[in-house]
Amino acid sequence: MNKNLLSLADLSRKEIEDLIAFAEKFINEDGSFKKESLFPDKTIANIFCEPSTRTKSSFEIAAKNLGCHVLDFDTDSSSLQKGESIYDTVDALSLMGVDLCVLRHSESIIHELTQYIPEMTFISGGEGSISHPTQGLLDLMTIIQHKETIDNQNIVIVGDLDHSRVTASFIQGISNFDFKSLTFSGHPEMCKSFQNHAQGKYEPDLNLALAGADVIVALRIQHERLEAEDIIDIDQYKYEYQINSERLAMAHEEAILMHPGPVNLDIEISTMVYESEQSVIRQQIANGVAIRMAVLSQYLSG
Ligand code: CP
Repeated sequence: MNKNLLSLADLSRKEIEDLIAFAEKFINEDGSFKKESLFPDKTIANIFCEPSTRTKSSFEIAAKNLGCHVLDFDTDSSSLQKGESIYDTVDALSLMGVDLCVLRHSESIIHELTQYIPEMTFISGGEGSISHPTQGLLDLMTIIQHKETIDNQNIVIVGDLDHSRVTASFIQGISNFDFKSLTFSGHPEMCKSFQNHAQGKYEPDLNLALAGADVIVALRIQHERLEAEDIIDIDQYKYEYQINSERLAMAHEEAILMHPGPVNLDIEISTMVYESEQSVIRQQIANGVAIRMAVLSQYLSG
């Protein structure tokens, strides 16, 4: 296993399955998380240069559950605001004794940082539109909890695929498994890179895409990366692409519905479907803590 976790493309099927099995061990029978002082001599820094609730908070909770010291680095009050580069910022933290950085950034910079500061361990907390590896791991963990395996599943991903680092990591993760089919659906302006994709087929008609689906992954419209309102009419989008009760009924009766969050409720997913038994979206959030405990344990252990 590499020193850093930047991409699920760097992990084998066995490494992914081992991390998921390891994460399960951190969950108590009542759903709470184990608290074990495994790394009292380690300090991690959470550097989030883009907004986050789930990833940032779950890394902090995971690290504290493992007994680490956690630096909640506030980018808004840091010297980044005085023009200091992210390279010099992480270098300074390294000199202060930080062992591992969880970094979210709008640009693809983490690989370069690993070369600039080789003594630091980096875990990507989401990098531009290219990668969100721990989200991919928790997504696979959630599927395995419900379906036992990724193998033989009919998987549909719907929404703003072009800007989705979640989709990029999800595809890298499932490419280790023998899934039955992968279908991309969504507004053509949001799926330009997926209309001739090596690993799945594009079906613009969501009703057809959902037929027989076992796993549905709905995605957030990323207003911050897309002038969505300039390209699509939201009412038309809801009419064509919202997962509502009628659409969910087109999938397999035991299909699960996933979404990385945050959800634009009643745009991508109706409230009724979000609250339905087939929705595992809240379980994904909880799994985020366990998977990040496993990832931190693995990468802090070297
Ligand atoms: N899924 C996800 O990355 O959510 P946050 O932006 O809240 O971290």
